[in-house]
Amino acid sequence: MKKKLIAGNWKMNGSLAANEGLVTALRAGLGVPNCHVALCVPSVYLPQMQALVAGSSIDLGAQDVSQHESGAFTGEVSGNMLKEFGVHYCIVGHSERREYHFETDALVAAKTQRALACGITPIVCVGETLAEREAGKTEEVVKRQLAAVIHANGHCISEIVVAYEPVWAIGTGKTASTEQAQQVHAVLRAQLKAASPQADRIHILYGGSMNAANAAQLLAQPDIDGGLVGGASLKAPDFLSIIASAL
Ligand code: PGA
Repeated sequence: MKKKLIAGNWKMNGSLAANEGLVTALRAGLGVPNCHVALCVPSVYLPQMQALVAGSSIDLGAQDVSQHESGAFTGEVSGNMLKEFGVHYCIVGHSERREYHFETDALVAAKTQRALACGITPIVCVGETLAEREAGKTEEVVKRQLAAVIHANGHCISEIVVAYEPVWAIGTGKTASTEQAQQVHAVLRAQLKAASPQADRIHILYGGSMNAANAAQLLAQPDIDGGLVGGASLKAPDFLSIIASAL
């Protein structure tokens, strides 16, 4: 069985002092984890974080990447730049970027392509809003979002990580039930299997108010291969407890 992946998404949180305190506490409590562990941090902190996680089992991640290789794109950060700081993972198409930065399925697919071209594993986020769930459109929405990425990335698709994050569960304290989450994960797995004979090796993470209390049950589902953790990744004891429940 593949090892699970627990990735923290710090979003726009942190400071030089806070990062040092958090990583020091995580390293002290981590031991030899049973799962892969990653921290997706604001880009400006990558040099600091590269030093802080050196020699540990924590991999470094970014939260976004430009779809362009280089050039006149003010404010953007390229995949090659991220790679220079030891970045292993990059979140792509998080619902906050889809909503506040108007990222489309096509743009998310292009960013996924760029990350892969730079040797970075994209964590591609998909998920429905509350209105979409209530309209019975959950499957249609997540399949559409993933189809764009599959279409643009062809045979490389087994190199990605997928994160199912129901938008209504992010930062709200409302977690999808284990049944709701597993059901969508199974749909995504089937879609990936139809696209690649190696789909079983793809990690499909659950994200949306995962915490120390609900992680074990979610992570016990057959198609939930890990978690993308926001709020709870900012507190060392909570994040360590989630990591410990990823068997
Ligand atoms: P949350 O965020 O755990 O705070 O709900 C998850 C995410 O947005 O990746």
